[in-house]
Amino acid sequence: QSSVLHKFKGVIFSTMSSEELLNSLDSFEAREDDVFLVSYPKSGTHWIAKVIENIPNARITLTPPIELGDISKFEELKMYCERRVIPTHLSYSMLPMNIIYIIRNPKDIAVSFYHYYRDNPNLPSIETWHEFFELFLKGDVVYGSWFDHVLSWEEHKNAKNILIISYEEMKKDPSKNIKKIATFLGLNMTDSEINQIVWKTSFTEMKNNTAKENCDPNHTICALTSNRNLVFRKGAVGDWINYFTSKQKRVFDELFTEKMKHSELAKHFGDYS
Ligand code: A3P
Repeated sequence: QSSVLHKFKGVIFSTMSSEELLNSLDSFEAREDDVFLVSYPKSGTHWIAKVIENIPNARITLTPPIELGDISKFEELKMYCERRVIPTHLSYSMLPMNIIYIIRNPKDIAVSFYHYYRDNPNLPSIETWHEFFELFLKGDVVYGSWFDHVLSWEEHKNAKNILIISYEEMKKDPSKNIKKIATFLGLNMTDSEINQIVWKTSFTEMKNNTAKENCDPNHTICALTSNRNLVFRKGAVGDWINYFTSKQKRVFDELFTEKMKHSELAKHFGDYS
């Protein structure tokens, strides 16, 4: 195991998430209007976070991730007076609140995560795609298995306090999904306001603004980095095809069918694999 990682209750975490903090998550005092923005890494967290930040007159503060740092985190989170949207990559058992859960095709996540492992100094170094593919399949990566993560949210998918947003749907019809997010937050927007957000949160626009946005150290969305230069890579659906060998596709699909056979959420990916 690398020095940048440690295990907590059997799952791998970054050492930037202290054991003490992970142990105290139960004592976090949630407010009724808190919303958790939840995803497995590389599902599009920065994208949806940007949408929320751009809703006019929302009186919302996007806080740093709940699992980033040490035990002083809870005191820090108390200081936000406005309604809090709190990003996190934790799985369901740790967080019973209002939640926006982002899902993405796991093959694209694997490829995106591979590049993130390579570029991010807070993650162990990886030599080859093949090596990473094996780790991803076994769930031997930070935040554990993608399958277990999604399955932990599966049974709650119809709960009133959870909104599920998919990367692929967001690509296909951003305005419709931005409207869904606003409605879930109890906020109204005009069509022109929505169009503004579509533009501001497009991949190109977000990638071009990284230099400017990196200046604010409090603006951290993912507990694995505060450097936004590491986040915006390709922003596409289906890039997995350039990495998976036909054997890897077969092995992956077999495991997917086996693990996700009872999953309704997984049906969403049918069109993209
Ligand atoms: P790729 O590596 O496939 O390009 P997260 O924010 O959860 O870390 O996810 C990062 C992934 O979302 C990266 O995927 C990144 O390029 C993509 N992404 C970020 N902003 C995006 C946007 N506005 N539109 C589409 N994809 C975006």
